[in-house]
Amino acid sequence: MSTVIINNINDVRKNVIDWKKSGLKIGLVPTMGALHNGHASLIKKAKEMCDKVVVSVFVNPIQFGPNEDYDKYPRTLEKDRELCDKLGADIVFAPTPKEMYGENKKLSNTDLTFVCPPYNLVDCLCGKSRPGHFDGVATVVLKLFNIVTPDYAFFGQKDAQQLFILKNMVKDLNLNLTIISCPIVREDDGLALSSRNTYLSPDERKSALTISKALKQIELSYKQGITDTNILFDAAISVLDKNIEPEYIEFRNFETFEKVTEAKQNTLVAIAARAGKTRLIDNIIL
Ligand code: PAF
Repeated sequence: MSTVIINNINDVRKNVIDWKKSGLKIGLVPTMGALHNGHASLIKKAKEMCDKVVVSVFVNPIQFGPNEDYDKYPRTLEKDRELCDKLGADIVFAPTPKEMYGENKKLSNTDLTFVCPPYNLVDCLCGKSRPGHFDGVATVVLKLFNIVTPDYAFFGQKDAQQLFILKNMVKDLNLNLTIISCPIVREDDGLALSSRNTYLSPDERKSALTISKALKQIELSYKQGITDTNILFDAAISVLDKNIEPEYIEFRNFETFEKVTEAKQNTLVAIAARAGKTRLIDNIIL
């Protein structure tokens, strides 16, 4: 059967109730659409592990800041559905903001219940320059979990901070599901796949390539025995193209998310940088 697009929460719930009655395992792949091979890898993993797969496609207004790219974020629903169909997903859940958040509500915490992840996890890395972003992410993801009630939910490791925050939410709020994290998918030349790569001009894309090169340089230096994160930081900066504006390069324990000054096995190296107006993120685990 081909993948259907469902816009309505109750219709998704009806399907889910039938699946549960039959004892089927449900996988959820939350996305904002403009699906690429990174998303495809999540859907494939979900198909491997689950009997039924729901892909949500929702550009979530409450996770974008006022000067961010909510309006211009690529929306390619029919193409997304075709990819989901090819990969054997059952439902594309594509609600409108009104369906998700109601008719008469201001999309802020004056009118809407939000999930607030712990301050220590949001007041760093991407959360520093995107205040409120992770509240918006955690809120929409909890809503999606409540609507789809999946056994497993699949997220990419590229958004390492998001992944860590959501795993914590599952633990802290006793949610009855398991989060599965999937490796970053890259272009042949190393650029991490992102729906925002479509914003890049050819020159910006060339410059953006040095983001993954900077991470590779850190990995190389680490393998050569350098563990001081200040030296590793400088090694990365020396590789970045002059047109790339780094926002942060940080070294964190992948298990605890604590900052480290000495890199070791399982250190997460995360970077955010701008190529022109486009903000990109990437990371590696040493
Ligand atoms: O990673 C994303 O695409 C989004 O942050 C998510 C998890 C779908 C929530 O809107």
